[in-house]
Amino acid sequence: MVKICCIGAGYVGGPTMAVIALKCPSIEVAVVDISVPRIAAWNSDQLPIYEPGLEDVVKQCRGKNLFFSTDVEKHVREADIVFVSVNTPTKTRGLGAGKAADLTYWESAARMIADVSKSDKIVVEKSTVPVKTAEAIEKILTHNSKGINFQILSNPEFLAEGTAIQDLFKPDRVLIGGRDTPEGQKAIKALKDVYAHWVPEERIICTNLWSAELSKLAANAFLAQRISSVNAMSALCEATGADVTQVSYAVGKDSRIGPKFLNASVGFGGSCFQKDILNLVYICECNGLPEVAEYWKQVIKINDYQKSRFVNRVVASMFNTVANKKIAVLGFAFKKDTGDTRETPAIDVCKGLLGDKARLRIYDPQVTEDQIQRDLTMNKFDWDHPLHLQPMSPTTVKQVSVVWDAYEATKDAHGVCILTEWDEFKTLDYQRIFDNMQKPAFVFDGRNIVNADKLREIGFIVYSIGKPLDAWLKDMPAVA
Ligand code: NAD
Ligand code: UDX
Repeated sequence: MVKICCIGAGYVGGPTMAVIALKCPSIEVAVVDISVPRIAAWNSDQLPIYEPGLEDVVKQCRGKNLFFSTDVEKHVREADIVFVSVNTPTKTRGLGAGKAADLTYWESAARMIADVSKSDKIVVEKSTVPVKTAEAIEKILTHNSKGINFQILSNPEFLAEGTAIQDLFKPDRVLIGGRDTPEGQKAIKALKDVYAHWVPEERIICTNLWSAELSKLAANAFLAQRISSVNAMSALCEATGADVTQVSYAVGKDSRIGPKFLNASVGFGGSCFQKDILNLVYICECNGLPEVAEYWKQVIKINDYQKSRFVNRVVASMFNTVANKKIAVLGFAFKKDTGDTRETPAIDVCKGLLGDKARLRIYDPQVTEDQIQRDLTMNKFDWDHPLHLQPMSPTTVKQVSVVWDAYEATKDAHGVCILTEWDEFKTLDYQRIFDNMQKPAFVFDGRNIVNADKLREIGFIVYSIGKPLDAWLKDMPAVA
């Protein structure tokens, strides 16, 4: 029986390994982590992450060929294939701070693998890492190997949160990079055989190591670039009376462009896009390519601009001040169908409104009060460092309260900001909400999910990203 061990039981390691276990009953899969609460949660009825379909997959395999454990060394020692799916956050200090990937967790995992191994192993980079990381990992492993043979493969993960299980069941492609040596090719085949249990062969792409590593950064940069492009257009739409939904539909109909990832929004969030683009920018700078670095930096700049543009619009529309006004925030997660708040645009929007002394009442169906308070008190980039792997008691932001119902959040509010596209926000009783709000009552739709015309009929003043502005908003211009 082939044994797989995955180091890192997070958003990638947990679902990916659960699906491998489900699709490959002949393989024993152990997912290990240094976080005791995280492993305890994977072994309980309350999984540590919310992901549609995940619970079902875990329940089918857990205790049969899928195990979650904190005994990292034992499972690594016994494995034939070791996936490393630890976090690779942006560095907060020292050389490259604010841009470069922090490979501390990766390096410590690699040193531990070298330390405890007693048999040959394939080591798979599942985390997103800078191009050429495999070379560094190879050096760590071979210099400490005691004669054991390690083959390094790059097998980046392309799943998106909220659709992780579907993405894993039917991936657009699986990418495997390895060395062009007989041992390297043998390792590629071994990993390909795992995926071939359920992924059609033509969807498994094999490349050299550096192409695989760079393709992951490139794919995320391209996806984020589309969002920044449409968001940049959304600002121009508001200035000219064009409608961004119509523009992106017309543009996306070009089969060379395609319709996906062209939804204007308050900005992209999530743990990957910003981190990976900053990393790409840093790699370009280190390789003497400042023009290329500058090009990709602009994707982040437009994203930041979009978030501050939204805050300015809220404040400007409400007579240029939100001091002491109640603002209801609907949605805090970085997208629907996840409880994940990493780099969510809601953090910057809420901080911007708090900076203008607003009082916020926040509701999200999947995010806890603790998490929201922690996010609003944390420094940029601090969220993905070990201090935060364990639960900590947050410093409370006094102007913020968190409630468990959209009606409670909007009661007595002066304005409503929709920051996540949860389906339930589309079908709220907006007449009831209007009746219980202060007047004039505002809705700022950061995801273009409400029917603005219907809301205007009720009496709301409505701002929708990239849509023609009504008279009120035109009279209260927001300076970006
Ligand atoms: P995560 O923070 O949810 O999980 C990482 C886990 O690794 C944590 O539970 C942490 O405790 C554990 N860990 C860290 N060091 C360890 C060590 N030395 N030994 C054992 N466990 C250790 O992160 P994630 O979202 O799963 O992302 C993991 C990687 O995958 C990152 O490089 C990320 O960029 C990449 N990625 C993420 C996504 C996504 O949607 N989240 C998608 C594709 C790729
Ligand atoms: C992303 C990539 O899609 C995935 O392939 C990679 O493995 C990890 O990073 P994820 O961050 O989980 O996945 O979600 P994604 O669906 O890409 O959304 C990212 C952000 O962009 C969200 O905040 C989402 O709301 C926003 N978005 C997405 C838009 O604003 N407009 C769009 O058209 C699409």
